[in-house]
Amino acid sequence: MNTADFIYQGTKKSIEKASFTCQTPSNIALVKYWGKSDPQIPKNASISFTLNHCHTKTTIAFTKVDKSTTITFDLYFEGKKKEDFKPKISKFFERIASYCPYLYEYEMVIHSENSFPHSSGIASSASGMSAIAMCIMNLEKELTPDAEIDYIHKKASFLARLGSGSASRSIEGPLVVWGKHPNIPESSDLYGVKFPFKTHPIFNEYQDTVLLVDKGEKQVSSTVGHNLMHDHPFATQRFKQANENLEKLSTILQNGNIKDFIQLVESEALTLHAMMLTSNPYFILMKPNTLEIINAIWKYREETDSNVCFTLDAGANVHVLYPKEEKQKVEKFLKEKMLKYCQKNHYICDNAGFGAQTF
Ligand code: PMV
Repeated sequence: MNTADFIYQGTKKSIEKASFTCQTPSNIALVKYWGKSDPQIPKNASISFTLNHCHTKTTIAFTKVDKSTTITFDLYFEGKKKEDFKPKISKFFERIASYCPYLYEYEMVIHSENSFPHSSGIASSASGMSAIAMCIMNLEKELTPDAEIDYIHKKASFLARLGSGSASRSIEGPLVVWGKHPNIPESSDLYGVKFPFKTHPIFNEYQDTVLLVDKGEKQVSSTVGHNLMHDHPFATQRFKQANENLEKLSTILQNGNIKDFIQLVESEALTLHAMMLTSNPYFILMKPNTLEIINAIWKYREETDSNVCFTLDAGANVHVLYPKEEKQKVEKFLKEKMLKYCQKNHYICDNAGFGAQTF
């Protein structure tokens, strides 16, 4: 499908009032997206586990009004009116307006809440943007009841991508690929697709314990970070490597070679941060405790032959990944040895899940 396929074709149906509540999760990339061109086209393909418990729940109440030249909405976050979040959402609506022109005919009241603390350092843009996109697509589905569910999901991912690239991977689960890749059938730069091959059972309900090392605002936003890849000395090589890693990971996910999984996933995390360390200007998002945790995981793995490993987002928190069958042992290790590295001993237990839900 291409961009033109997502332009709304109109309907004879008129809806005066409607309200939809959708919940969409965050996701954690295994092969990272870092670098893009306009409009939110990734420089390489990426793949992520969709999470389960870290999610945003959003309700949008639509009321029909006379057609306007702007998209009007009120925004409440966790019950409170949030004027400071509005510019980002306005920009998102402007970007998607040509695909959803019916938005000019509605006034929207948006209520949103996260299952994770707002200042946890967990990126809420993926879950937040995808939840809004899903609510809008629920309205579109009411307007055009013949639209197929596969199209609704694809367009929700397409819209979410225009809000935040990684949000395109939050509509479905448990593994989603975003970015055109020759070895992943149906993959696209425009939206995320479910990993199309049968995965080895070891990856079922894969566990992700997020160790909250630093809950503060990021010093460098991901928008700035992506832009620094434009004339980064290692960019071309990095984009090539990411696509090769996705191909390797595809094989690993099917054959269950967990040792190869660990090596590839950790290398991807460190490479993402290596890009930050070597950009101009350079920056560091890891904190001393990020490194303490990484070293402790390596030590624990050496001593116990566990299959625990780590990955990182664009921040200091550590996502600790492990198979479900190791849950008890790894959680004991994390509780006993890792909490001292977390701000206020805080951590979040999550696992791979299935994406958006509509209530
Ligand atoms: O979706 P953005 O623009 O916030 O970028 C996210 C980039 C990473 O989280 C660092 C990697 C990824 O693929 O999710």
